[in-house]
Amino acid sequence: MPVITNIEDLKRIYQRRVPRMFYDYCESGSWTEQTFRENSTDFDKLRLRQRVAVDMSGRSTASQMIGQDVAMPVALAPVGLTGMQRADGEIKAARAARDFGVPFTLSTMSINSIEDVAEATRAPFWFQLYTMRDQDFVRRLIQRAKDANCSALVITLDLQIMGQRHKDIKNGLSAPPKLTARTIADLATKWGWGIEMLSAKRRNFGNIVGHVQGIKDNSKLGAWSAEQFDPTLDWDKIAKIKEQWGGKVILKGILDAEDARMAVKVGADAIVVSNHGGRQLDGALSSIAMLPSILDAVGDQVEVHLDSGIRSGQDVLKAVAMGAQGTFIGRAFIYGLGAMGQKGVTAALEVIQKEMDVTMALCGVTKVSDLGRHNLLIPQDFGGVWQP
Ligand SMILES: Cc1cc2nc3c(=O)[nH]c(=O)nc-3n(C[C@H](O)[C@H](O)[C@H](O)COP(=O)(O)O)c2cc1C
Repeated sequence: MPVITNIEDLKRIYQRRVPRMFYDYCESGSWTEQTFRENSTDFDKLRLRQRVAVDMSGRSTASQMIGQDVAMPVALAPVGLTGMQRADGEIKAARAARDFGVPFTLSTMSINSIEDVAEATRAPFWFQLYTMRDQDFVRRLIQRAKDANCSALVITLDLQIMGQRHKDIKNGLSAPPKLTARTIADLATKWGWGIEMLSAKRRNFGNIVGHVQGIKDNSKLGAWSAEQFDPTLDWDKIAKIKEQWGGKVILKGILDAEDARMAVKVGADAIVVSNHGGRQLDGALSSIAMLPSILDAVGDQVEVHLDSGIRSGQDVLKAVAMGAQGTFIGRAFIYGLGAMGQKGVTAALEVIQKEMDVTMALCGVTKVSDLGRHNLLIPQDFGGVWQP
């Protein structure tokens, strides 16, 4: 077993093991990738206040997200096609999250279905909903998530239309990969991935195939999903979905204080300050740069979470010290999954927890609820001076 000391170690192994098409799918941002890059580099602008001679014994990273106990304020973000990064990837990631004590979020565009994950984990998880034009399909999807005992519905709001990621078009991204001279040459060097994939439970979108009229296999699936994201989604529809769900609702993809206020109005239990990991609106500011203005607007009315750009426990700590109640990680756990399966996701979580714990200690903090802006050194121009 390789020695893993940081998330970058997992990324290197991941890149060697997984077909190029799926590595590129994960590692891309939209268009120029400015927002994708700044999501991470903006974390580096925040610095930490070193404190000494504070009793640092009995520390804990434990916290709560939407009232649920978590081993640290980190949830696994919904990531489409996770089961293409590793055979049965959603099941493996969900098991790792369950054993570690953090929430797992299953994407609508997952390979393993809601039922697969529920049966394999026997633990409540969160379900992420993309609203689709096919209202009947959405209604049934919500019912399936209820039947599977999902403990929160994460509604993603920033993908009514897909941002363009150049590499996916050039690679002809599909699940399973189409066999062309290029993909065959690539797969020949990724035999470990291929052998495991032969015995995977599924190799296409498990929440969709067999649940939509006329979609029994992959032949019509690509066209169906591309035209299905609902361009008419608005706050009224969100309120109706919330009513149908009847449980906890997290609204994901909020990057503006005005939208955050609307999210409060429709009664969200939490919002996720997110730009979809830089995969949607290129040119948007990073999530961490937008967090302070959103906290100022709604921080006392709704639980605020953050994702996009988190690659370490220090990033988690910075987001929480800034005022977020929790965070989500996307790529950081996918690197682990692609590299080493369930063990790799656990390794990613362990790295992040250890980094968070040691950083807390050196900042003189022993519990998550004591973290605050007093632990940060925030440059005066952090976030920049931008005018609408
Ligand atoms: C490969 C990939 C696929 C994604 N698929 C989804 C998805 O199906 N639904 C969703 O709400 N967000 C999706 N996201 C966005 C993540 O939930 C999350 O917002 C993002 O990964 C956070 O940024 P990070 O990867 O820098 O941690 C995806 C992200 C990646 C990298």
